[in-house]
Amino acid sequence: MTLRAVVQGVGHYLPERIVPNSEFEKTLDTSDEWIRARSGIEQRHFAAEDEATSDLATYAAQAALKSAGLTADDIDAVIVATSTPDLTFPSVATMVQDKLGMTRGFGFDVQAVCAGFVFALTNANALILSGQAKRVLVIGAETFSRIMDWEDRSTCVLFGDGAGAVVLGAEEGTGDTSDRGILSADLNSDGRYRDMLYVDGGVSTSGTSGKLRMQGNLLFRQAVEKLTTTATNALEKIGLSDDDVSWIVPHQANIRIIQGTAKKLGVPMENVIVTVHKHGNTSAASIPLALSVGVEEGKIKPGDLLVTEAIGGGLAWGSVVLRW
Ligand code: UT7
Repeated sequence: MTLRAVVQGVGHYLPERIVPNSEFEKTLDTSDEWIRARSGIEQRHFAAEDEATSDLATYAAQAALKSAGLTADDIDAVIVATSTPDLTFPSVATMVQDKLGMTRGFGFDVQAVCAGFVFALTNANALILSGQAKRVLVIGAETFSRIMDWEDRSTCVLFGDGAGAVVLGAEEGTGDTSDRGILSADLNSDGRYRDMLYVDGGVSTSGTSGKLRMQGNLLFRQAVEKLTTTATNALEKIGLSDDDVSWIVPHQANIRIIQGTAKKLGVPMENVIVTVHKHGNTSAASIPLALSVGVEEGKIKPGDLLVTEAIGGGLAWGSVVLRW
């Protein structure tokens, strides 16, 4: 028998306030038409002033626990993927522990920007396989609206706020790729590309939290190639190919990147979960949000083979192959 980290529950939370593209036409030289055509985004959610990342994360975690039929008492560890924490420290994960009423176990944050959920999932898998934890809440939660430069039309129209979560639990498998759970992962980063996407402030430099800066066009050119390679690597590690894939659950940055990657992987768009039109780019939250919406819409079903892939600041990129 082989130990596997299996998704036992999934949930998400989106802030109440929905902002359509037309809202930006009032203050910027932009249009609904440009935003839709270049990114596929139609609207995004923005957190209320008194809503912090840990609030969004907690609501998503509660939804995931409910779908798993579990309570916080059943959880050994909380991992939050985020680049927009409430405070410099402590971690958002420890705040989520407190808000859930957890008084045992441990929590920490993972910072790999838009690829954060893929990195967090891989860490959670390692904790489970090494026996450190039996059940892990893995959350992606972001309030990117807090790091937008509202005068920069090339970035502020693209991002949104939200959170998604999964409960990952230890289960016995047979050791082959028919098992449910995480089957393979491929992680990468390369700091030479850091100027393509970064925030221009921080604790040990400016002493401010800073604003997001992006060379979108350069990043776009890296994205499709690196996402295709990482997804192919993760599949090949376990002897699978694009033919075996039920769903690609990609990071939701741009519909053209999602389409380009699916095409290169040879997976039709009918087998890709798309939420970018409704959520915008929610960074580390985008994959768990897409997982949750995909299940809610009746698309993702037990036994399906999923490939998640993401790229973002760092650059950091990677993919996880799992059977739902
Ligand atoms: O989540 C992390 C990963 N993120 C990504 O992977 C994002 C990757 N990049 C992208 O998604 C795309 O590059 C963008 C959506 C950011 C931009 O699309 P693009 O087709 O690469 O456009 P561009 O940057 O080449 O800009 C084309 C034109 C420029 O004008 P000129 O120089 O051709 O006159 C921009 O100034 O569009 C202009 N522009 C806008 N026009 C209207 C840029 N932003 C806007 C805007 N409204 N909001």
